[in-house]
Amino acid sequence: MGYLIAIAGKGGTGKTTIAAILVRLLKENKAGSILAIDADPNSNLAEALGVKTEETIGSILDEISSHPEIIPQGTPKDRFIEYRVQTAISEAEGFDCLTMGRPEGPGCYCYINNALRNIMSKLIKDYEYIVIDNEAGLEHLSRKTTRFADTLLVVSDATAVGLRAAARIREIVKELKINTKNNLLIINRSGKITAEDKIKGLDLKFIGDVPLDKGIAKISLNGNSLMKLSNDSPSIKMLKKIGDSIWQKKF
Ligand SMILES: Nc1ncnc2c1ncn2[C@@H]1O[C@H](COP(=O)(O)OP(=O)(O)OP(=O)(O)O)[C@@H](O)[C@H]1O
Ligand SMILES: [Mg+2]
Repeated sequence: MGYLIAIAGKGGTGKTTIAAILVRLLKENKAGSILAIDADPNSNLAEALGVKTEETIGSILDEISSHPEIIPQGTPKDRFIEYRVQTAISEAEGFDCLTMGRPEGPGCYCYINNALRNIMSKLIKDYEYIVIDNEAGLEHLSRKTTRFADTLLVVSDATAVGLRAAARIREIVKELKINTKNNLLIINRSGKITAEDKIKGLDLKFIGDVPLDKGIAKISLNGNSLMKLSNDSPSIKMLKKIGDSIWQKKF
């Protein structure tokens, strides 16, 4: 069973950036097999990782629902979806990447969600580390395609609004009865402000501030991959420490 880290947070707080850097650090540590999942339909985790994706789970489901004849006779639909999802996994150097996307066409979402749930349970067994970059609204969590996560990593900015959103995310996860063993908080782009005293009441364990990093801003401006971010950059230094505590489950 792999170690599943689900990254969540209000829009624009830095989920994708942090997910990408954590995948990069895992890869550099040669920690084991890694699957990066982009679960945000406005997806850009693959881009942040420098991976080209041609297919998404959404596009595959659309294809199957508009052309059911592509399912070979005698093959159960579930089995065929599973097979097609396997072919949608991009193999990059040192990690694999899967983009969820969103089915555009009409169709029974219960069916799709069931299929996704089964696929997720299988993928969790196939990889040692699974890092999921979630959408801000946690919509797919509410569809319960993820039943558990070893670690919920909430990303917030150092604002009261951001921290309230972080608290709300923790509540949603509880309400949905998603079993998360570790519930952690990162404050991103913290500048020089320490928010520790504001965090005490949250049911999240604060594990570090990631500083505002010019290197990230430059990469973002040029549409480059975070694989290119210098190892000396302040965010990488901090995320190395944060990453180590996550992998070793020492908080
Ligand atoms: N520590 C940082 N220093 C500088 N820029 C940052 C930092 N973290 C994130 N950014 C920048 O902030 C913007 C938003 O970050 P990102 O896309 O990672 O957020 P997100 O939470 O995934 O957003 P969304 O909710 O839209 O998916 C990006 O342009 C990114 O480059
Ligand atoms: Mg994002």
